[in-house]
Amino acid sequence: MSTLRINGGKRLAGEIEVHGAKNSVLPILAASLLANGETVIHNCPGLSDVDAAVKILRHLGCGVKREGTTITIDSSTMDRCDIPDALMREMRSSVIFLGAIVARCGEAVLSMPGGCELGPRPIDMHLAALKSMGAEITETGGNIICRSKKLHGARIDFLTPSVGATENSMVAASCIEGTTVINNAAREPEICDLQDYLNKLGANVSGAGTPVIVVEGRSFKGSAEHTVIPDRIVAATYLTAVACAGGDVVVKDLIPAHVSTITQALEEMGCHIETHGGSIRIVKNENRLVAPRPVITRPYPGFPTDAQPMLMSATLTAAGTTVFVENIFENRFRHVSELRRMGADVKTEGRVAIVSGVEKLHAAPVAATDLRGGAALVVAALGAEGTSVISELKHIDRGYYGLENALRGIGVDIERV
Ligand code: EPZ
Repeated sequence: MSTLRINGGKRLAGEIEVHGAKNSVLPILAASLLANGETVIHNCPGLSDVDAAVKILRHLGCGVKREGTTITIDSSTMDRCDIPDALMREMRSSVIFLGAIVARCGEAVLSMPGGCELGPRPIDMHLAALKSMGAEITETGGNIICRSKKLHGARIDFLTPSVGATENSMVAASCIEGTTVINNAAREPEICDLQDYLNKLGANVSGAGTPVIVVEGRSFKGSAEHTVIPDRIVAATYLTAVACAGGDVVVKDLIPAHVSTITQALEEMGCHIETHGGSIRIVKNENRLVAPRPVITRPYPGFPTDAQPMLMSATLTAAGTTVFVENIFENRFRHVSELRRMGADVKTEGRVAIVSGVEKLHAAPVAATDLRGGAALVVAALGAEGTSVISELKHIDRGYYGLENALRGIGVDIERV
């Protein structure tokens, strides 16, 4: 099994580019099933989660070509409506295909998605939304069977915003008769990107980015060319890396508004942040960082749960105490035990983590526990004296494309062995 060896303690300098957003590519690839023709998606990073989504499209009978970060899908040859267990297990968020498959085929058979490292990942909100649109849903032998002779528009009220359930509802509603109103919709930038893509196909979706999304269902046979937005969590990872290691770096190809909660926290800690169009310059000088106000994760536009682990790494040597409250997932402090091996002083109690800043971190052999927890270990290793060895890279490879090359480009002494 390969590992990342990081010789930390070096100040960073230079420019680093952000790749396309994983959590935008996945729902857009699912929505391409509605195109019933060829669509071209640019800026798709070569991630294992994207590989898994491509496998599902090919399993369903679609033609898929990949040239660099461009994926071309021809869904006119789709001839199946099931996702087998092996493919579901490869990527838990495969449930994102449910709305597109049932809307296109009138039936979808998926194996029940398991939980993941972050805890149980229920899909009750996805199923309730599709039921309200007329789908009959049965669960037998670990499979979810979703059937509908004719889906219809509906009013969907989510108790709490769910990114995936909002996306499944948008996609299913876009090509059926009637109007669908989604209340308390998730407002993440990836939802706006999906709306843009659906409307390029010929759909009529509005309101993405606000709590109310309206979908005027209609038939469309469009094809589309779309460039995926930058990955705001990868951008957050690079920004926290500079805060942790120190240096002067320009993070390019991002949308500053999408990472404003992270840059606010880093400025509060003592980093200098300059925004120039689609890039951010971050400077962390020799002065010790100070603990920010409590970091409370919330649905967008609140502080993103996916950036919590990496910001935690940046607070480990800050003067003072940082409080983290994780409101989205119940098991999102698994990286803490690994950070402690590097000398971090972190106590957790349920959804609360308390970081007491230490003078410095030291290198250690650590194992990634999940995607963003693994990224937190990389960030911490950059600021730790000595050579850290990070294993279980399969978690990190789900969401970071060419991480070691990108970090080497800003002066990190890193290699994958
Ligand atoms: C998306 O997951 C992202 N994944 C996650 O990134 C991200 O952390 C999460 O949104 C929150 O921002 C993708 O977009 C592929 P949710 P999703 O539905 O859609 C509960 C990564 O690795 N819930 O917004 O699964 C759920 O348990 C991942 O990049 C229900 O109870 O998240 C959670 O507590 C990690 N019932 C909360 O809602 C449901 O039917 C928010 O989940 C659905 C969700």
